[in-house]
Amino acid sequence: MPKDSILNWGILSTAKINRALISPLRHSPRNRLTAVASRSLPSAQAYAAQWEIPVCYGSYQELIEDPQVDVIYNPLPNHLHAEWSIKALRAGKHVLCEKPLALSLAEVDAMSAAALESGKVLAEAFMYRHHPQTQKALELVQGGAIGRLQLIRGSFTFRMKTETNIRLSPEMGGGSIWDVGCYPISYARLLAGAGVQEVFGSQVTGASGVDESFLGQIRFTNGVFAQFDSGFRSPYRAHLEVVGTEGVLHIPTPFKPGSNESMSLHREEVTETIVVPGQELYLGEVEDMADCALLGKPPRMSLQDSRENVQTILALLESAQKGSPVGL
Ligand SMILES: NC(=O)c1ccc[n+]([C@@H]2O[C@H](COP(=O)([O-])OP(=O)(O)OC[C@H]3O[C@@H](n4cnc5c(N)ncnc54)[C@H](OP(=O)(O)O)[C@@H]3O)[C@@H](O)[C@H]2O)c1
Repeated sequence: MPKDSILNWGILSTAKINRALISPLRHSPRNRLTAVASRSLPSAQAYAAQWEIPVCYGSYQELIEDPQVDVIYNPLPNHLHAEWSIKALRAGKHVLCEKPLALSLAEVDAMSAAALESGKVLAEAFMYRHHPQTQKALELVQGGAIGRLQLIRGSFTFRMKTETNIRLSPEMGGGSIWDVGCYPISYARLLAGAGVQEVFGSQVTGASGVDESFLGQIRFTNGVFAQFDSGFRSPYRAHLEVVGTEGVLHIPTPFKPGSNESMSLHREEVTETIVVPGQELYLGEVEDMADCALLGKPPRMSLQDSRENVQTILALLESAQKGSPVGL
């Protein structure tokens, strides 16, 4: 594909999260939203009319077979991430797949194999990784701003308003750790910069059988610890604290940073406010896909990184079930 091409995107389903991507796709000069598919044609037609999307299909298969489409965005329920990402890759499309990339290591490995065989890009849509604030936090920690890293503590909770949400379905890969716990786990892994050695998790199981609250602890191979909680039954909380031998970095908006964020760095009794000019949150993953598909760059979210996140979540769930730590 010529470097100056425009990538045509197709969206699988009418998921709520789509609206986060529609604006960046409109504003990015290298990307264009051309098609949407839904399980029902009337739903696809109504959605296409509402969001001014030129082409619509009444099945996912038709969308991935559209020769005009270069990139598929997969925001399906978690249990369909692997199946439809693999089908799209085999149909010759690049794929941006929502988090979590998959629900088992076998699925992640099958997805990676499909990407390798097709020569197409597959990346997990962890939008916060592309935001300048995340890059700045990593730079501060790696640069020794808080001394030697010791502990990362993070939370991501919100109050679930309905009882019919896909996040409450065990069959669809529901549960708070898959849905929002994946963020502090991913952020902690990024900052720790080491593999996970051991995890210990506890969960509160809801009526449907998924975890509605999860508390977890991670020990990394370099001696760094992480603690997090996630849940559906508390008010909205999303923050991160990064503790080193010489200071503490507070990130009040780590997972959904906006266009103007600030972090606070506390060391030697002085608190410094670090202002980070941000960007539209979901633009980064769209531009990253264009860099990969058009310029041949590797995705910022590597498949190995996604694999280790899935592996860590699975180990935490196993630990919560057993009631004892699990080594990786
Ligand atoms: N990165 C982020 O900031 C972020 C935020 C929210 C969600 N997410 C991720 O995005 C994905 C979707 O979340 P969402 O809240 O947008 O979901 P949602 O609104 O419930 O939409 C999911 C869509 O999947 C399709 N679908 C296919 N099979 C289905 C089934 N058996 N049951 C229900 N829906 C089915 C439906 O579309 P059709 O009927 O049109 O086919 C439905 O609209 C999840 O993986 C989630 O983790 C990411």
